[in-house]
This record gives sequence, C-alpha cells and structure tokens, in this order.
Amino acid sequence: MLDTLCVPLIQAPMAGGPSNAALAVAVSQAGGLGMLAAGYKTVEAMAAEIDDVRAGTLNFGVNLFVPEADPSDPEALDAYATALAPMAAELGIEAPEPGPFNDDQYPAKVDYLVANPVPLVSFTFGLPTADDVARLRSVGTEIVLNATDPEEISAADALHPDAIVVQGAEAGGHRATHGQAKEPSESSTHELVSLAREYTDRHVIAAGGVTSPEIAQNLLGAGASAVQVGTLFLTADEAGTKDAHKDALVNGQYRDTVVTRAFSGRAARALSNRFTERMAANQVVGYPQVHYMTAPLRAASADNPEGLNLWAGSGFGACQARPAAEIVAEFRSL
Ligand SMILES: Cc1cc2nc3c(=O)[nH]c(=O)nc-3n(C[C@H](O)[C@H](O)[C@H](O)COP(=O)(O)O)c2cc1C
Repeated sequence: MLDTLCVPLIQAPMAGGPSNAALAVAVSQAGGLGMLAAGYKTVEAMAAEIDDVRAGTLNFGVNLFVPEADPSDPEALDAYATALAPMAAELGIEAPEPGPFNDDQYPAKVDYLVANPVPLVSFTFGLPTADDVARLRSVGTEIVLNATDPEEISAADALHPDAIVVQGAEAGGHRATHGQAKEPSESSTHELVSLAREYTDRHVIAAGGVTSPEIAQNLLGAGASAVQVGTLFLTADEAGTKDAHKDALVNGQYRDTVVTRAFSGRAARALSNRFTERMAANQVVGYPQVHYMTAPLRAASADNPEGLNLWAGSGFGACQARPAAEIVAEFRSL
C-alpha cells in the first residue's frame, strides 16, 4: 500500500485524541495515508475506531505502543508524586500517586489485528517480536517500524519491515526511542534520513519537522520514500486535539518547545509551559506510571494550557486551523 499512495504523505498516528477516525478518513480520501493510534485505548475502543474508518476508506494503518519491562525506580516515582503535590493542592485535588504499570493491552491488540486484518500496522517505543511480525504479515498486513538512531535502524531492519520511520529530534509528542530509559537521540530528521541507507535497504519514512512541501522535497531528495507528518495535523479541523491545545499552537503566545518526561515519564516534545518549567528539575523515568500520575492534574487544568501536555514539534509555528485535505493538497506536488 505504501507503494500506491497518491501523495507520499502519512498522517502520523497521534494517541491521546488528535488522530481520530475523521482525520484518518480525510487524509486518506485526499490521497495521503491516514493512521489510527491505538495507544491508551482498550482493544474494544481500537476495534470501534477501525470500524469507523472502514466506513470512509479502506486505506489506513493502525499504530501500537510496544511495551517493555518496567525500568522505573519506585522511590523516584514516589519522589515525583511529592514534587507534584503542591500543584495538585493549587488545583484543589488530592495529592497524586504513581499509576499502574501496564502493557497497553498490546498482546490482545496484536491478536485482534491478526484476526481482523488492516492494511498496515506501525509500532513505536520499541520493536515487535519476529513472531508478531510474521503473524501480521501472514494476513497481508504491511509492517512499519520506528527508529531514532543508527542502532535502532539496524535493529528494525533485521525484522524485514516494509518501511522504517526515522524520527528526528524535531518531532512532536513522544520520542519513538526504543526503551524509555535511553536518552533520546538529538539527530535531526535530515541527518537520520541521510545516514539511513548505511543501515537499511527498506523504504525510509521521514518524521519530525515536516511542515512544508519544500522540507518534504528535501527529505525525499536525501533518500526518504515518504514523510510522516504529525504536528501540522494537530490543528486540522477534523483532529480531536483539545481546543486549548489547538489554540496554544496558533495563538502566538508560545515560542519554544522542550523535550520533557514531566507528563508521562517518557521523553516527549511539547510546548514549554508552566508545567514543564516547574517540573524541569524533577525528570523521572516511569512510563506509563507518570502518565497516570499526572492525568488528574491535567484533567483539573481543564482549559488552562499552562497545565496541559501541549505536544508539539519544533515546527509548530506553521500550524493553521484548516481542513486536513488542504494540508494534504499542499504536498501533492511531491
Ligand atoms: C500529539 C502527538 C501524538 C503522537 N502520538 C504518537 C503515537 O501514538 N504513535 C506514534 O508512533 N507516534 C506518535 N507521535 C509521533 C509522530 O508519529 C511523529 O513522529 C511526529 O509527529 C513527527 O514530527 P512532527 O510532529 O514534527 O510532524 C505523536 C506526535 C504528536 C505530535
């Protein structure tokens, strides 16, 4: 399916609400490839969203978070809960506690996708087993793996995927780094695409900072087969991004992004706000426990962007409120 795209543009899966069925359908109908994000969802919710997309398009993919063994330190998690307590008090809610460690129902999601095949499955945060790849391939599903440095590109290549997304440091949201305890690579998207050929013969998809057709053209020229675009779609009309998040991306009040573990315990790029600044000195490895720990604070912050995880790539200045099809159309010349 990657070979038959009208526009070599993949809408990034964006867990947590932004990449809903409406966005995926709009992007695929416009000639790109729409992606659903299964992260944080139950198997049933993932299945329902797949059904919704199928009503609008047959060209789409589903993205899974690959779980890992829990590397966190319980004492460090308790210390982080203590550091969050004053913020909770200000919001008038109970002091937070570390949330549970879980596998995001990953095995059950793979089983569902084997029994109910979709055209493409991509994986982030790590690599699937060769057995999971073989099971999905056997039902006709294309496999896409994420990587953020040469070592990860080589490891992904060994699984013989259809394509490897190389995610550069500009990228918004969680870094795709294999293993949450690892420090995220600082290589740019262009650097990674340029060196990828030394490590793989697979299709390379460039992700991170793709905010214009010129940037995309440059990456295709450096060897990418397609681009994966996230941040630019956060403000698409169809995207399920919170209104406060959409507004923060376009209102001109935010100038910088920062890579932080403050919200989830895993490195992610977000707009720099009061939450990231207050927690800058308290970074702790602990995904998804920190995600669950900060959830009540984020919920209590409601419409106040200073208390939200405003995921954003470094190119967020290009965001505009407009239909997704208009964004895809901009890339049609590629
Ligand atoms: C809000 C948000 C959520 C994301 N969630 C996921 C996800 O669930 N799975 C995934 O593989 N990548 C996820 N990403 C990363 C994207 O796949 C992609 O690497 C990134 O958006 C590309 O950089 P850009 O944001 O500069 O376009 C997310 C990115 C954002 C901005």
